[in-house]
Amino acid sequence: MIPAVSIRLATESDLCVILQLDALSNPHPWGANLVVDALQTRQNWVVELGDATQKMIVGWLTASMVLDQSELELIVVDYSVRRQGLARKLIMVWSEAVAQQGVSELLLEVRESNQGAISLYESLGFELVGRRKNYYQIDKKGQTAQGHEAACLFTRKM
Ligand SMILES: CC(C)(COP(=O)(O)OP(=O)(O)OC[C@H]1O[C@@H](n2cnc3c(N)ncnc32)[C@H](O)[C@@H]1OP(=O)(O)O)[C@@H](O)C(=O)NCCC(=O)NCCS
Repeated sequence: MIPAVSIRLATESDLCVILQLDALSNPHPWGANLVVDALQTRQNWVVELGDATQKMIVGWLTASMVLDQSELELIVVDYSVRRQGLARKLIMVWSEAVAQQGVSELLLEVRESNQGAISLYESLGFELVGRRKNYYQIDKKGQTAQGHEAACLFTRKM
């Protein structure tokens, strides 16, 4: 049987599970300080699988808001449950929630090499509006000649 999917606002008590998700499923982990800061200062949602008796957090989205814009800072889904539409659901919940708070534009930046995430954003109507050359540092796993890669800027009007 396919486990039920639910999405809710994250709380600081989700910290340990989110830290684990960041460490194991984020190719560029944020680490404890940034995750704690995100939970304290941004809007956060988690996606869970399971019923009321046993639920497991398998995804996290954190976003900041300035005036009428909301920026996706990070979305990560557990590698074991990818390509099941969970990131798409998280993004839809984020966009609906911030629309109700008066947001008229969604923003995000993504590494140029992250074609999976780029496909996800494009499938949800995000449009490429800019490119920041040499924005991200590359770790040893993904060396380029310059040691840096570009950030692609995407937006979606509400
Ligand atoms: C990017 C990420 C969040 C996608 O999560 P996901 O739950 O697997 O995504 P979904 O199942 O909702 O994907 C929806 C659509 O996005 C596209 N997509 C998602 N991952 C893809 C991939 N690896 N390759 C190609 N297309 C992809 C597809 O169009 C997919 O629809 P389909 O499965 O019907 O073809 C996940 O791969 C992840 O956590 N990556 C590591 C962290 C990261 O890179 N985050 C983004 C930068 S902030």
